[in-house]
Amino acid sequence: MKFAIAGAGYIAEIHAKALQNNGASLTTVIERFPEKACAFAEKLGAPGCYAEIEEALAQADFDALVIGTPNFLHAPQAIAALRAGKHVLVEKPMAMNSVEAQAMAEAAQQSGACLMVAHCWRFDQDVLWLRERVGQLGKIIRTKGYGVHTHWGPAGWFTQQALAGGGALADMGIHALDTARFLLGDPQPVSVYAKMGTNYKDFDVDDTGVMIVEWDNGATSYIESGWWQPHSDGPEAATQVYGTRGFGRLFPTRLELPNPQTEQVEVEESGFAFPRVEHCPQEMYDAQMAYFIDCINRGTTPVPGAQEGLVNMKVVDAAYQSSKTRKVVEIA
Ligand SMILES: NC(=O)c1ccc[n+]([C@@H]2O[C@H](COP(=O)([O-])OP(=O)(O)OC[C@H]3O[C@@H](n4cnc5c(N)ncnc54)[C@H](O)[C@@H]3O)[C@@H](O)[C@H]2O)c1
Repeated sequence: MKFAIAGAGYIAEIHAKALQNNGASLTTVIERFPEKACAFAEKLGAPGCYAEIEEALAQADFDALVIGTPNFLHAPQAIAALRAGKHVLVEKPMAMNSVEAQAMAEAAQQSGACLMVAHCWRFDQDVLWLRERVGQLGKIIRTKGYGVHTHWGPAGWFTQQALAGGGALADMGIHALDTARFLLGDPQPVSVYAKMGTNYKDFDVDDTGVMIVEWDNGATSYIESGWWQPHSDGPEAATQVYGTRGFGRLFPTRLELPNPQTEQVEVEESGFAFPRVEHCPQEMYDAQMAYFIDCINRGTTPVPGAQEGLVNMKVVDAAYQSSKTRKVVEIA
């Protein structure tokens, strides 16, 4: 199987390494700045470099595209590739908004090719450990999660509404949102209340936010997003799960289960180190790429795929609307 990567920036390096670590072949790099594209391609031994996706689709030889470009390019690049019959792994957020995400889902359905959304925390060892044990916590009442950068934040296109679609919520909050939804077993959102703000820098997108999502299984998720925050209760995707029979958490990752017989709280430690050397480890992206390749080989629909990406975009849209209107927004 031959792969192309769109974008030759930060995440593209990680995806290129994930392709290498999975023994997959990178043939094509698509990047707006041709010199950057060709330097990236040369470094990775990829024979083709192109400035535009249309050019690459017409001339290059690849079966699947990994999209690591600014958010405004996710939908047009994914739809063009899907229409050409290519499988697509697109970075989070899936698109600028849910309207674009819906169009991508439809393009995938029509093409029959795989569309996967890179909600990478679903492939993390700690997240998977907690997901396997969440049933021990009884009925889940609420989750608390964090998608927050402390004392730093991104620059450039990430901070421009027209190129990113949203700020810290679309960039970081979405990791905490998807992790909460994954741990809850992918319920559907019912309503969202959110308060977003721009308090730390002069951006036209949010750099601070809290939102409360009500799910159709009765659980409620509280999620903080932000860049340049003075504090966060946990690193990216850190999520706490409160159930009727116990408590579970990520980073540090463990269960706390009250024993009714002894009236003691029994702690089951995951044994995974915290803090980590790298909070976003290469192995997580390697596992994500392995799953994408496996879905293509088997012809199965990826999860996280179009539907999971779309649900997250609906919640993000509702959060921005709620913050603007100061009202709870129902999600149909
Ligand atoms: N899952 C994760 O852990 C994670 C981490 C970082 C970024 N991301 C996501 O990956 C995407 C890219 O982020 P990044 O940090 O790599 O950004 P980046 O700015 O480092 O890289 C983006 C690249 O896209 C290129 N580009 C711009 N316009 C282009 C065009 N028209 N065609 C092709 N290339 C073009 C830029 O020149 C740049 O090289 C974003 O959607 C971001 O949210 C995900």
